Amino acid sequence: MSVRIVRTVAELRALVAGWKEEGERVAVVPTMGALHEGHLSLVREAMARAGRVIVTLFVNPKQFNSAADLAAYPRTEVSDAARLESLGGTMVLFAPDGDEMYPPGFSTGVTVTGVGEGLCGAGRPGHFDGVATVVTKLLLISGADAAMFGEKDYQQLQVVRRVAQDLNLPVEIVPCATVREADGLALSSRNVRLSEAGRACAPALARALNTAAGRLSAGAPASGEIAAATRAILAAGFERVEYLELRSAADLAPLDTADRPARLLVAAWLDGVRLIDNVEVRAAG
Ligand code: PAF
Repeated sequence: MSVRIVRTVAELRALVAGWKEEGERVAVVPTMGALHEGHLSLVREAMARAGRVIVTLFVNPKQFNSAADLAAYPRTEVSDAARLESLGGTMVLFAPDGDEMYPPGFSTGVTVTGVGEGLCGAGRPGHFDGVATVVTKLLLISGADAAMFGEKDYQQLQVVRRVAQDLNLPVEIVPCATVREADGLALSSRNVRLSEAGRACAPALARALNTAAGRLSAGAPASGEIAAATRAILAAGFERVEYLELRSAADLAPLDTADRPARLLVAAWLDGVRLIDNVEVRAAG
């Protein structure tokens, strides 16, 4: 079997210590399971960068805003392990239970101000505290030299970068490009919750972002492009646009124009499902 399942921190630490003694480089891919091609692209990147790969599978209760959302999150460990097997390498799947990660008495949290505020941080209070706390733990437990994070969750990527830098974690945070369906829809474990009609109009989100990004790179003011993109998303059938904002790519500062490398980020609701996406906006001029 090429995927070894590890449940405890102690077992993972012992394994990693052995690898390090042999001079192996270790890469980690943190996930909450329900693996799709987007996750597999992160695992392939990890395999290309390190001799030893750890995929973590933990549905982190601290980053969910509602008990219903946490309960509805898919738990598919058997098929996740099979998908990892199909990649062909040898790897460890670290799949601890809740008590292993948060034993009774657990009282510590990691909060990232600045990049953790606004956007998803506004709509999902406490979400990034939960993400930052669990990612800090996973990076420390795994002792990884490199950790892969998708640009699909661009704000999360910035939060994790901040944590690694501010806490002097000896790990390289590796951003990986968003994987998309042929029609442009960003891969997400939430996509399966869309109705057939919802799935048909979902690509409008990426289309609206790309149209606006092109005009922003040509120097158009953000306010007009955001209004036009919002109208296009709602006209396509989305119920609500939670946010659609132009932010600096480096530190997520709000921008009125793309006067530096930027990112256009959106969260919008379709069929009662919250979808997020973002695209690069090249600096105007
Ligand atoms: O992106 C995710 O799947 C999660 O937020 C992460 C990084 C695994 C932390 O639980």
